[in-house]
Amino acid sequence: EMFCKGVSPGGPFWDHMLGYWNEGWLANHLHQYQGFWYFTRQLQGVLSCQKHFNNSLNSDILIVTTPKSGTTWLKAWTFALLNRHKYPKMFENHPLLTKNPHFLVPFLELDLYNDKDLVPDLNSIPSPRLFSTHLPYVSLPKSVIDSNCKILYLCRNPKDTFISLWHFTNKLKLDGTSTNSLEDSFKKFCNGVSICGPFWEHVLGYWKESLDQPKKIMLMRYEEMKKNPSFVLKELARFVGCPFSKEEEDEGVIDDILKLCSFKILSNLEVNKKGKLSSGEEHRAFFRLGEVGDSNNYLTAEMIEQLDIITEKKLGHYGFRF
Ligand code: A3P
Repeated sequence: EMFCKGVSPGGPFWDHMLGYWNEGWLANHLHQYQGFWYFTRQLQGVLSCQKHFNNSLNSDILIVTTPKSGTTWLKAWTFALLNRHKYPKMFENHPLLTKNPHFLVPFLELDLYNDKDLVPDLNSIPSPRLFSTHLPYVSLPKSVIDSNCKILYLCRNPKDTFISLWHFTNKLKLDGTSTNSLEDSFKKFCNGVSICGPFWEHVLGYWKESLDQPKKIMLMRYEEMKKNPSFVLKELARFVGCPFSKEEEDEGVIDDILKLCSFKILSNLEVNKKGKLSSGEEHRAFFRLGEVGDSNNYLTAEMIEQLDIITEKKLGHYGFRF
């Protein structure tokens, strides 16, 4: 009985196996923590930020995403939105023209708390502080849960998320000799083995909380950002407490932000074509195609059906549909 419950040396037998089964797909080895999967460096950051990020302010804004759901894009939107008065001439001297969005909006677990011996001093950052994370709701630092900070949660349909992740992991394979097979990676994704996966549990956690705490959590979808960008951006501005004035709307500020953050502009900037994150990933790996439905070009009808069934079973039951 204990063994079935996962109480055995080395942790739950099956999760231990899954960690090794992952080999090659996302990282050499994944670790499961509080029900979700992390690569080693990331897990160290998760533990460190859970321990040390104990001063979340009511004015903080936290961008939370499932990996490959449009994090880079939402970081750009939110940064441009909050700094629109500081940089009114958006196409002249805006930081987004020379810096990658991940540099401007750091990840808690990957950037700020990535060194277990060095705790960053975040007190000097002016309000509102803008951070990001891929952490599931159950693993957020306690001070984030306890404060009245705002959480922007972004997700994307699992088919496109999976295909985007599959391309991303193949691009990051440094030796360039082999690629992850689509079929193998697909099986793993469906089994929940992906960065910060299981994907569906990640979405479910925030979906439920967004219903319970609508003032704290705004749930966003990549597909909506693509379909109706100005509407979503206005919603976002209202949610974080800096709505656009009528004058701003008339002056075209919304259109300027959307244009500055568009795939075409961002992906063609020198910094995003050539630069690298401090962790080594090339900036250009974060800009592939930027469209909805590209997964139809890769997944078989059976794979699509399988993902749809899982999604309906795990999320549809709770009233969430992509
Ligand atoms: P695709 O691989 O489908 O093209 P993340 O930022 O969470 O890593 O997600 C990356 C995905 O967002 C990639 O999807 C990428 O092309 C897309 N993306 C990046 N910048 C974008 C932008 N400005 N507009 C739309 N999609 C963007």
